Amino acid sequence: MIEGKQPFNADAAKKVLMTFGETSDKGKGLWPDTSKGGDHSSLPAIWENRADFDAKLAKFSAESKAAAAKITDLDSLKAQMAEIGKNCGGCHNTYRKKAS
Ligand code: HEC
Repeated sequence: MIEGKQPFNADAAKKVLMTFGETSDKGKGLWPDTSKGGDHSSLPAIWENRADFDAKLAKFSAESKAAAAKITDLDSLKAQMAEIGKNCGGCHNTYRKKAS
């Protein structure tokens, strides 16, 4: 939508953001203690800084849901996605293995 490949659709845009929010809510259960050091792209830092990681997940969830409520047109979608996007890199830099 943002790239103009499909027409703006407020309902579809909100759905994506609500999915970000709901997935983050579930995320707490997706990194159990037993997964530390397994075959995935999550760094051990997640388990070593659990409170910070959970806080980042909660912040991402809350901001995604708040953004969904603010989307009315393509410009507001772009503005909200730019805000939400700040969460992605912030968490990946610390907790996700770089693609090799
Ligand atoms: C709270 C931390 C956090 C936030 C916020 C976050 N991510 Fe991630 N993301 C991760 C971690 C950790 C992984 C690595 C998961 C693994 O494979 O073990 C990951 C993996 C991914 C992957 C690869 C998934 C796969 O199947 O291999 C994509 C794509 C991705 N993130 C996109 C995003 C986008 C886009 C955003 C923002 C809209 C975002 N992430 C926000 C922590 C986060």
